[in-house]
Amino acid sequence: MADKAFIKLGEKEVELPIYVGTEGEESIDINKLRDLTGFVTLDSGYKNTGATKSGITFLDGELGILRYRGYPIEQLAEKSNFMEVAYLLLYGELPTNDQFVDFTDRITHHTLVHEDVKQFFDGFPSNAHPMGQLCSLMCTLSSFYPDSLNPNMSKEATDLTIIRILAKMATVVSWIHKKSVGHPIMYPQNKYDYVSNFLYMTFGMRTEEYVPDPVVVDALDKLLILHADHEQNCSTSTVRMVGSSQANAYASVAAGVAALWGPLHGGANQQVIEMLEIIKADGGNVAKFVEKAKDKNDNFRLMGFGHRVYKNFDPRAKIIKEACDNVLNKLGVFDPVLDIAKQLEEVALKDPYFVERKLYPNVDFYSGIIYRAIGFPTEMFTVLFALGRLPGWLSQWKEMREANEPIGRPRQIYTGPTVRDYTNIAIR
Ligand code: MLT
Repeated sequence: MADKAFIKLGEKEVELPIYVGTEGEESIDINKLRDLTGFVTLDSGYKNTGATKSGITFLDGELGILRYRGYPIEQLAEKSNFMEVAYLLLYGELPTNDQFVDFTDRITHHTLVHEDVKQFFDGFPSNAHPMGQLCSLMCTLSSFYPDSLNPNMSKEATDLTIIRILAKMATVVSWIHKKSVGHPIMYPQNKYDYVSNFLYMTFGMRTEEYVPDPVVVDALDKLLILHADHEQNCSTSTVRMVGSSQANAYASVAAGVAALWGPLHGGANQQVIEMLEIIKADGGNVAKFVEKAKDKNDNFRLMGFGHRVYKNFDPRAKIIKEACDNVLNKLGVFDPVLDIAKQLEEVALKDPYFVERKLYPNVDFYSGIIYRAIGFPTEMFTVLFALGRLPGWLSQWKEMREANEPIGRPRQIYTGPTVRDYTNIAIR
């Protein structure tokens, strides 16, 4: 293994250190490149750039490996729960029983959202997109906790901020759902665990007793675990970038929500179901749509296929596909869209066009079918992704702050006009 990199620029040769991660990932440390050579690197979309050193999540896109703090995603999805995973991501180790009880207890006791936040919430039209509402409300919350604006707040205050955000986002997400169906919001109940409480606030009614269905609790818990972190994806990098200016955690998370909203990121799960619905409405001829997706002159695109970093399969998609069958069977839900999704996967996985381009279903492909079976409207899907991703965002924000990372400030290669003299062209 090389321990130095040599860059030759004309006659000049410079030596750069190699940095190797704990899983053997090799990188050329270019921190001094500009000082030594006057050059910067050009890497649109950061495809070859390690923006940070991080000890939270490891993924190997070639082998389809995903681990949180070293633990394989398959084991966590099967044996752990979302709150334990949140603790693991934030603090680096699995909690002891006492730590787990204390952590979940604190979250439970912070689920209530200040009544005045409702005044902001009430201003949204009932058809406002849930992601727009979530983004605004996360930032709004910062105004109720002015202490959290202090970049030099103590470790205890930072911890409290993290607990508050974890607790309150679930409540806010349930409000957004309630508004979309025209029902009054529900207040949290401390007798429930995190996921049951969220389901209660989302689907419970003031007029009825709510008994969370263990199948649904389990399914949602698993989905939240699978979405909890994914190293330096677009929204997480955004959270770190915004946080690097010492903006507070609420604002950083709101920025993460904004980045996640896009159809090329978290917004894809909504688009997958919309695509499957279009295929269904057209008569369900999957082969026809596969041909359309291959046709460069056709606008139709297969959503939920392929991934920037996974080159063979997305390990989360494997787990979700299995969970999907399981949940629908247990809930006795027949969804024709699941049938279409399975056919589409089968056809696409055999077609050389998709095989050569390494296009196979990703995490967004099957998750929407489970959300739908649970009873969430399509527009809520990306918000659920955000709820799952929250511990990841907060862990990455915390890691970045604790490492005292410098403000994110990329360079550019300027391509505009060179210097020219001003002359008055407009008639004034
Ligand atoms: C994610 O989970 O954030 C998505 O798969 C996107 C990504 O990792 O780039």
